[in-house]
Amino acid sequence: PAPLKVALLGCGVVGTQVARRLVEHADELASRVGTRVDLVGIAVRDVAVPREDVTGTPLADLLTADAEALVDGADVVVELMGGIEPARTLILRAIQGGASVVTANKALLAQDGPALYAAADAAGVDLYFEAAVAGAIPIVRPVRESLAGDQVQRVLGIVNGTTNYVLDRMTTEGLELDQAVKEAQSLGYAEADPSADVDGYDAAAKAAILASLAFHTRVSLDDVSREGIGAVTADDVAWAQRTGHVIKLLAIAERNTSGGVTGIQVRVHPALVPADHPLAGVHGAFNAVFVEAEAAGELMFYGRGAGGAPTSSAVLGDLVSVARHRVLGGRGPVESSYAALPVLPADAA
Ligand code: HSE
Repeated sequence: PAPLKVALLGCGVVGTQVARRLVEHADELASRVGTRVDLVGIAVRDVAVPREDVTGTPLADLLTADAEALVDGADVVVELMGGIEPARTLILRAIQGGASVVTANKALLAQDGPALYAAADAAGVDLYFEAAVAGAIPIVRPVRESLAGDQVQRVLGIVNGTTNYVLDRMTTEGLELDQAVKEAQSLGYAEADPSADVDGYDAAAKAAILASLAFHTRVSLDDVSREGIGAVTADDVAWAQRTGHVIKLLAIAERNTSGGVTGIQVRVHPALVPADHPLAGVHGAFNAVFVEAEAAGELMFYGRGAGGAPTSSAVLGDLVSVARHRVLGGRGPVESSYAALPVLPADAA
C-alpha cells in the first residue's frame, strides 16, 4: 500500500515527542501498520521560535505555518495544539476532507465532542482521542470499546497529573500550592495556563469525555460540577494527614436515580481519601481510574497521566489504529448515535 501522510498540528511538549518517535521508530511503525507512516509536516504558529529538541534537527525542516495546506494533503491529522480554535476548524476540515483524526484535545472534545463525532460519522473517518484522558493510560478505549457490551455504573479517579503532583508535593514536602505548581510547569505536566489544572477545568473536561463514553450519552464541561484545589492550603494537607487521610482531586461520574429519573451525575472536587485506599498511593503526576460495571465488576487503570513521552504513547497507539484502518479497511467506534441519558444535578440524592 502507498505510504500514509501524517500531518502534525502543534509542536509543544507532546507534539515534539510524537514527531521524534514517528521519525525514530518509522520502521517499526511501518511494520505494525502495513505501510510507511510518513510525517509530512508540523504546523506551528511561528516557525522562527526556537524549540528544544527540534531546532537544528531534521524535524525543523518539517515546520510550517500553513496548517490548512498541511491538513489538505494528509491522510491522518494529529492535532496536538490544544484549545478550541483553530483546532476545531482544522479538525473539521481534516474530517470533511476524508482524513482520519487523532487528537489529545480534551477541552475541545468536552465542549464540542458531539459535533465532531457526527462529522466523523458522516465522513466515514476515524476520530481517536486516547491521549485526551489520563496520558499514557489506556482508558478511553476500554470504556469506549471493551466495556461497550456492559453497563457501567461508575467511573471514579484521579485524572489530572498536575493537581496530583501539586497535592503530593504539599503532602510530602510541605510546599505551598504556588511553589508546587511552578514545579509541575517546569516538568511539562501543567497546561499552558495552569489555572486549567488548578481550578479543575482539565479534570472536568476529562470527566465529561469519560462520562459520555461510559454512559453513551452527551456530557459537556458545563454539566460537570467543579471545584478545583485553589483553596487547598498547606494547613489543610497537614490536617488531613493527622487524621489518616490525603487530599486528592477526584473526578466522579455515576449512574443515579433521583425523583424517579435515571440519569448520570458528574463532579470534580477535592476529597479526603483514607491513607490506606489505593488512590492515596497515587503519587506525582500519576493518574488512576476505577470503573465499576455491572458484569465486569471493578476495574482499575493506573499510570502516568501527564508529560510528553507518556502522552505520546497514547497518540502513537491511536495513530497505528487509524492507519491500520486506512490500510485494511474498517473503522473505529463513533458516538453520533448516543441517546441522551439525562445529566442530573450533581447534588441530587
Ligand atoms: N495538564 C494535564 C494534567 C496534562 O496535568 O493532567 C495531561 O492531560
